[in-house]
Amino acid sequence: MQALAKPFEDQWYVVALSEEVKIGKKKPVRLFGQDIVIWRQTDGHLGAIDSRCPHMGASLALGRVVNNAVECPYHGFRYDETGKCIETPLREPGALIPRTLCSRHYAINEKGGWIFIFWGAPEDATAEIPFFDEVKEPLRHTYSVREWPVSFTRFIENTVDVAHLATVHRHTLSWSIPEVAKVSCTVDGNIISMFPPSSTNLPVVSKIAYPNMALLHLHPKFLTVFAAVPIDDENSRIYLRSSQGFVRWPIIGWIFSQIKHWADMGALWQDKKPLFSVRPIRTENAQGEVLMEFDPHVVEYRKMRQRKLQEMHEKTSATNTTSQ
Ligand code: FES
Ligand SMILES: [Fe+2]
Repeated sequence: MQALAKPFEDQWYVVALSEEVKIGKKKPVRLFGQDIVIWRQTDGHLGAIDSRCPHMGASLALGRVVNNAVECPYHGFRYDETGKCIETPLREPGALIPRTLCSRHYAINEKGGWIFIFWGAPEDATAEIPFFDEVKEPLRHTYSVREWPVSFTRFIENTVDVAHLATVHRHTLSWSIPEVAKVSCTVDGNIISMFPPSSTNLPVVSKIAYPNMALLHLHPKFLTVFAAVPIDDENSRIYLRSSQGFVRWPIIGWIFSQIKHWADMGALWQDKKPLFSVRPIRTENAQGEVLMEFDPHVVEYRKMRQRKLQEMHEKTSATNTTSQ
């Protein structure tokens, strides 16, 4: 089995919303260029394996879920959540299944209505999934998904960039942050928080849950969660989920949620032009960018990434030394 693509470090990456994968259903996901199929079993828990069938290369993402296993659409072989082939229906009953008939599997878990895959060896997936305390039920959620030619790191930096509210979003959001240069930033584990100047009464402006989620919190009753799933180095699947706790009555609440969501989508659309123009596309290739006092989140986000890459390299070196 090939090693996973690096330098993207071993972390929990959000890949989808829980509501997108119903019981007995599957969903294809592309993460760092790797095609993965995820599916939900009858007891509710999820499986995730590489979607290339090890028999003759058909896509398991085109198959179906049968008895909690994913079935290849070509010759009907079935794979369990460990990636092991457990049934080869065209063969004699009791025929031995080769151990090599096996697909890579991933640690997969859920939190706050989102699905996360651990990009690394499943046995290393011991860390807690970082998430936002602010996202609590009951809130009404509405979401949209887009594929954008941006790296996930550039997108995450954009979502919590308070300064651009005064320029890119000057007709929609700039009212909420009157003094953008006075924001402050704190780091707690994998959460980076940006706080507004004390002259505002907002509880928090925005947060990053490292590596690929962000929260925009411009009003206590309005939350917007962003996720940027790294399809590959230069393309991302963007999720925008709007939540509101302002109007809870069934029909009016639904209408209000839709209006709030389309306002969020309008703001996202405003980001398209500047964000698509950013070069280099990958933040990791950015040399000599001159960051300002209102960019502390970018500094912390990039530092966190460097730190985690360093930790991963140290761990790999230690493992190599031990095995020599
Ligand atoms: S290619 Fe999948 S079972 Fe043959
Ligand atoms: Fe924006």
